[in-house]
Amino acid sequence: MKQDELIQKIKQLAKERDALLIAHNYQRDEVQEIADITGDSLALSIEAAKTDKQVIVFCGVHFMAESAAILAPEKTVLLPRTDAGCPMADMVTAEGLRELKQQHPDATVVTYVNSSAAVKAESDICCTSSNAISVARSLDAKKLLLVPDRNLGRYIAKHVPEKECICWEGYCPTHDRLQPEAILKTRAEHPDALFMAHPECTPEILELADHICSTSGMYEYAAKSPAQKFIVGTENGILWRLRKENPDKEFIMPSNCLICPNMKLTGLKDILSCLENMEPRVTVDEETRVRAKTSLDRMLAVPRD
Ligand code: 13P
Ligand code: SF4
Repeated sequence: MKQDELIQKIKQLAKERDALLIAHNYQRDEVQEIADITGDSLALSIEAAKTDKQVIVFCGVHFMAESAAILAPEKTVLLPRTDAGCPMADMVTAEGLRELKQQHPDATVVTYVNSSAAVKAESDICCTSSNAISVARSLDAKKLLLVPDRNLGRYIAKHVPEKECICWEGYCPTHDRLQPEAILKTRAEHPDALFMAHPECTPEILELADHICSTSGMYEYAAKSPAQKFIVGTENGILWRLRKENPDKEFIMPSNCLICPNMKLTGLKDILSCLENMEPRVTVDEETRVRAKTSLDRMLAVPRD
């Protein structure tokens, strides 16, 4: 089937199924192009919960679709590829977290949304890359367990020196690969460029950044900044919208390692197939869902900076 035909079929079927197509900022260009909404992981889950549509086709990775299913249990949440997981989310289990909690019974658990529903259910509050510092500052606790991303954890710890922070040793294989040498080399080649970095990058990379933010934060920063050139410290799927929204600006990838294989799994054929079959569906058992939702709701109640 030709791409145009595929796109027409998806649009027609999405209408018949009353489905909303949402895509994370790292998805393939053609997937972002066909989506009703693109955004960061949190924004997409909130949109999924808000929409009147009954079916959500979540083009992203498993934990994102799961967050949508936690927030909107009455909706049918479809993940076009069941094998689209997040290796960082898989680096912590509910059992492992329970063990750490036993060692630190006085600590508050702050869990990045890149985690399973079972881990969220064991946590006190969630955070995302866009609100992690506000969430940490909002807590009375003196001691925090920051799960599962050690890089986001260290970034939070640096900004809340008044709290003792214990970081889980998880990481994003895509962001963790980025080396400071690649940034220094790209900076030398483009001395007029600003470097924006995702907090999943290592502390050495974040030290070099002009701006640290979530994927959606990068769209805002690039649009508002008077600079003409940007070095992009996150997954390369972000380029599609950055370039579309800022046609007069230049966006440079410092390395060709910034590709998340899981984010690139979903193609147009997978979207059509999931709309035809109304599966694979993502669900969360009710007991886990209710506890995980409490952690997400606490986060959503924290005022944004
Ligand atoms: P955002 O929440 O910034 O979209 O990031 C999600 C993610 O998986 C980054 O690797
Ligand atoms: Fe997970 Fe990293 Fe891929 Fe994001 S980029 S989904 S954190 S592996």
